[in-house]
Amino acid sequence: MTSTDLPPSLIPTLSGDHYTDPAYFAREQQYLLERMWFCAARTDELDKPGRFRTIQVGRESVLVTRARDGSVRAFLNICRHRGAQLCTQESGEVRRSFQCPYHAWTYGLDGKLVAAPNLTSMPDIDRTAYGLINVHVREWLGHVWVCLADEPPSFEDDVIGAVTDRLGDAEAIDHYGIEQLRVGRRITYDVKANWKLIIENFMECYHCATIHPELTEVLPEFADGLAAQYYVGHGAEFSEEAKGFTIDGSEGLDRIPTVTEDQDRRYYAITVRPQVFINLVPDHVIFHRMYPMAHDRTIVECDWLYLPDVVESGKDVEHSVELFHRVNQQDFDACERTQPGMSSRAYAAGGVLVPSEHHIGAFHTWLQDRLAKEEANT
Ligand code: FES
Ligand SMILES: [Fe+2]
Repeated sequence: MTSTDLPPSLIPTLSGDHYTDPAYFAREQQYLLERMWFCAARTDELDKPGRFRTIQVGRESVLVTRARDGSVRAFLNICRHRGAQLCTQESGEVRRSFQCPYHAWTYGLDGKLVAAPNLTSMPDIDRTAYGLINVHVREWLGHVWVCLADEPPSFEDDVIGAVTDRLGDAEAIDHYGIEQLRVGRRITYDVKANWKLIIENFMECYHCATIHPELTEVLPEFADGLAAQYYVGHGAEFSEEAKGFTIDGSEGLDRIPTVTEDQDRRYYAITVRPQVFINLVPDHVIFHRMYPMAHDRTIVECDWLYLPDVVESGKDVEHSVELFHRVNQQDFDACERTQPGMSSRAYAAGGVLVPSEHHIGAFHTWLQDRLAKEEANT
């Protein structure tokens, strides 16, 4: 069926091969994930010089750390000597340098080559030129964002703009003080599904009544299937019975003091393409970072962020964590159930989007346009 055969209420999805073809995924890695701003980690994971994280961005392993001058730095995690991976741990701490486990070339926290066996006998080696390859870094919302492009796209347009467009107001996100919040819980999900299925799922609420009974209890407007979260500036209102954004509607924690009356008792969801979801409720923030690993595998790291005194005092956050943890499991189960269908004959020409999902078509158009534009820029 071609799009011209469809009744007006339906528009086509991408065909199944966009979710199953390793070559298409390789294009996404090269032209989207390695060209756009990519949310790497929480800034407070790098709370002192030498603390580091390694993460997968497109086809590359990236090392983010804090240098001695306090700045956050990011490098390709590859030794300049013979190409061994420098840090194999996902996170950790070094004293003052990174030493390659192969022949012991050693790099400062600023990436410069500082030592190597017999280095003095090679005085012609420029220690900066043979330092680690730098990657662009920005800090925003208490997170480190990296970009592997030589010339990064505008952070203001792509990242800050996505949040402003959704909330309808540039200051609205500041009221949640995400920089000051702390991780109360982190859960990492290894999802056997293409990253686009996870984004598409997050963008619509047509499935909410079917698979999210606990969420629709707290946010009754989600039960009607409309993607209420995609009306500019609109936050879904808590049900009258819900005392807080918790698994059983029980009382939550104290409101983040700078959250406004308008934002109180409301839930806002934001997608920052290509790999971030931000969920705002009055007493905490749920922040998802996706790491697309293969055409059929995505790691999702989800942080529940609370006021520092909530985390420090060891207050019980279980009831709020449990609500979105269950939503995540329900969503990721649905995505995993859909992934095998992408290679079925039944989906060779794709499926259809109902009116409350039509904005997913705009995501597909954006994706294909951006890929084509970046490929043309090569
Ligand atoms: S590959 Fe790293 S020191 Fe040789
Ligand atoms: Fe969902």
